[in-house]
Amino acid sequence: MTLRQALRQAQDRPQGPREAFDAIDVIRAKRDGGVVPDAALRWMIDAYTRGYVSDAQMASFAMAIFQRGMQRDEIRVLTDAMIASGERMSFASLGKRTVDKHSTGGVGDKITLPLAPLVAVFGVAVPQLSGRGLGHTGGTLDKLESIPGWRAALSNEEMFAQMQSDVGAVICAAGSGLAPADKKLYALRDVTGTVEAIPLIASSIMSKKIAEGTDALVLDVKFGGGAFMQDIDRARELARTMVELGTDSGVATTALLTDMNVPLGLAIGNANEVRESVEILAGGGPADVRELTLALAREMLSLAGQPDADVEAALDDGRAMDSWKAMIRAQDGDPDAPLPTARETHVVTAERDGVVTRMDALPFGIAAWRLGAGRARAEDPVIFAAGIDLAVKPGETVTAGQPLFTLSADDEGRFARALEALDGAYEIGDAASAPAPQPIVRERITA
Ligand code: URA
Repeated sequence: MTLRQALRQAQDRPQGPREAFDAIDVIRAKRDGGVVPDAALRWMIDAYTRGYVSDAQMASFAMAIFQRGMQRDEIRVLTDAMIASGERMSFASLGKRTVDKHSTGGVGDKITLPLAPLVAVFGVAVPQLSGRGLGHTGGTLDKLESIPGWRAALSNEEMFAQMQSDVGAVICAAGSGLAPADKKLYALRDVTGTVEAIPLIASSIMSKKIAEGTDALVLDVKFGGGAFMQDIDRARELARTMVELGTDSGVATTALLTDMNVPLGLAIGNANEVRESVEILAGGGPADVRELTLALAREMLSLAGQPDADVEAALDDGRAMDSWKAMIRAQDGDPDAPLPTARETHVVTAERDGVVTRMDALPFGIAAWRLGAGRARAEDPVIFAAGIDLAVKPGETVTAGQPLFTLSADDEGRFARALEALDGAYEIGDAASAPAPQPIVRERITA
């Protein structure tokens, strides 16, 4: 066949639908520091979700965003495109205000557990779609799954019914229909060094929260060694970006900037974090966990039109505990059943008298993960009883030989690598070098 014949044959063949843009042009535009036009950005996300744009192309685009950043309008369009990739839920017919909370993640962050039932005490519905842990930050669902019988997977109808009932609060797995573009892109960012980019984090978090359909949202944006954002200036920029995205989409959104240099509370793991949450619900527990739970509850209830709600009283008089038990039972869990305990423990003691001057969140998170509390791959199981229980926190006085923390695992072979992660992660100094106590909530960001 001659070339002319082949060309004629190709022209006669029916053409498939033409793609509106070329991924390489879109990548080049961002690589060279340009602004990607709205239609091209929307196409890129849609074409990636459909599988037309490859993982390699999207990874390159994500790296270009990481290096060059994005303007606010681009971030808004990116967020819209991710929302448009899936379903949008609506709680409009619920007859109650809905308020959600999202934390950017940290070590020992179990706040959702006491917070959701506490806020529900005041007749507000809390749709808390949560995730599992990956790497050193824990996942709310992993923690709750250490409660015998508790079920993370609810249909949209079950979720709606639980929110409408007296229970009011629901913590469950986000369905696969919500922002599927983000699901795909987040997994890709996780393995291509492109997680810590403000446009990508903001659009990822806010696309899911806006698609979820909550009326209001409080963001707990963490800064410090155990957070995505190491310094408070970057955390502030992330918070402002997300507050703007939420507000522009009609979701009343505020953010608190909170300290994640030191693990939150005393428990890092899964079952032990549930235990600590129950202590908070009983009116006790570590001061920092109580302080942050109360601050976030006040913020959520204020957005729900109840700025004067007495949240302390609800923790102290048993109403929050009743609400927790109802929430756990509604999802087939037994709130009174014993939680898993570890087969092996290893206690680390103080080598000298002095004051604990430093305890770095990140190595403690990594050590808990190596003990089995977290997973390296999304399909790995977690060990519910694995983790770390701190006996002291920075600012406290210790004497030589006194326990500092206890490692728990099902296999004592895990202790060596956990201890390796903890080498240099804490310090005992003289009383004069004791750190000044700092409030956990540093700033409040509003629209
Ligand atoms: N959590 C998310 O959902 N997305 C991110 O990009 C980071 C944290």
